[in-house]
Formats: sequence, C-alpha cells, structure tokens
Amino acid sequence: MTRLEAINARINESDVVLDIGCDTALLGSMLAKRGIFSFASDIKENIVLNAYNRTKKDKTYKYITFIVSDGLENVNQDEINTLVLAGMGTYTIINILEKQNKKFKKIITISNNNHDILRSNMLRLGYAIKEEEIIKEKDKYYNLIEFYVGNAEYTKEELLIGKNHVNIKLLIEKNNYLLNKYKKFYDKSESIKELVDVIKNYKY
Ligand SMILES: C[S@@+](CC[C@H](N)C(=O)[O-])C[C@H]1O[C@@H](n2cnc3c(N)ncnc32)[C@H](O)[C@@H]1O
Repeated sequence: MTRLEAINARINESDVVLDIGCDTALLGSMLAKRGIFSFASDIKENIVLNAYNRTKKDKTYKYITFIVSDGLENVNQDEINTLVLAGMGTYTIINILEKQNKKFKKIITISNNNHDILRSNMLRLGYAIKEEEIIKEKDKYYNLIEFYVGNAEYTKEELLIGKNHVNIKLLIEKNNYLLNKYKKFYDKSESIKELVDVIKNYKY
C-alpha cells in the first residue's frame, strides 16, 4: 500500500477533507474515484494550477475544490472537518495548526521527521493519537498518524515509537532498520542513544 492509498483508506463519506500541500492532488483524485468531494491546497500557485490541469485529464477535477493557501490562511474552515498534512516536516505541520483555533475531527499526518515532537505538540493543541501505521514505499519507511480531538498522556516510549500501531510487522522492520542505521552513532548523540535504548527494550 502506498502512503496516499493508506490515507485514502482512512477517509470515509462523513469526512470533508482538505489536503494541505496537495502537490499533484493525487489524493483528491483517489477520493473523487470513490465519489467523495474534497478540497486540495498548496502554498504555490503553479503547483495548484498543475494539479488542476492533471485532474482535468483524469476527469476528477469536478470533485476537487482547489485553493492556493499558506496552510489554512485562505481556507473557509467551516466547510472542512478533516485535514491531511503529508510529505512535510513536523514544524511546518505544527506552524500551520498553531495559527488557528478550530478543532478538526480528524487529522492525518505523514511527517517527514521528528515524530516525537509532532506527537507531543499535537497533544498540546488538543489532539490525541487514534492509530499509527508504518508504510513502506520505494524502500522508505513512513509513519502515518491519525489524530482525533482528545486528551491523553504518553510515556517516553509512546512519544518516541508511537501508539496503537496497526502494522506491527513493518514497525519491527523499521525499528530494526533504525537500530542498524544508528549503530555507529550511539555514543555520539543523547537523542539517538535514548531512541536506540527505547527500541531495544520495546515490547511489541
Ligand atoms: C513533498 S510535497 C507532498 C505532497 C503530498 N502531500 C504527498 O504527501 O505526496 C509537499 C507539498 O507541500 C507544499 N507546502 C509546503 N508548505 C506549505 C504550506 N505552508 N501550506 C501549504 N502547502 C505547503 C509544497 O509546496 C509541496 O507541494
């Protein structure tokens, strides 16, 4: 399953989705093929234009409302209840969410980095983890997190590894990959040492 297929599988008919940082709007097309209308935005006008032209070709454009926007700036938030923020860094995601007060019933992220910082900041913003899923696409591991409006307390292990993982086989594979990758750096960084120790003692 690809990253976008995994996100698509988590969207149901009651979700009104805004895909922030939509790039080519492939997710919007996947949703359109299920008959689901959605919103797709990007900070760059030319990207939105290219996405619109692409969706004209595959005839999914009628199901997608395109918006040029930095995060949620130009978005009518009343029309939306679900956000997708994929393929961007944790600090970009947090910056976007921090600038507004609305609570979205579902937020799906695939951040490129710093997932522990994402988890703790989402909690601060009023979102708890519903489920997590490791996806492997073109030999790279991605960590999808689905959040809902709620409160929680996380242990150090949960902040670093995540919570309610649905694909344990890929989680183990990814963690073994990280153990191997960080072998040489164990004594060189406190944060790597902490992560490696948590992975080594983790009960799947
Ligand atoms: C790597 S692409 C990810 C595309 C797609 N979401 C995916 O996961 O395959 C990141 C996109 O986010 C857009 N982007 C970056 N910062 C943004 C912001 N503050 N608001 C909206 N879009 C942003 C970029 O222009 C780019 O098209």
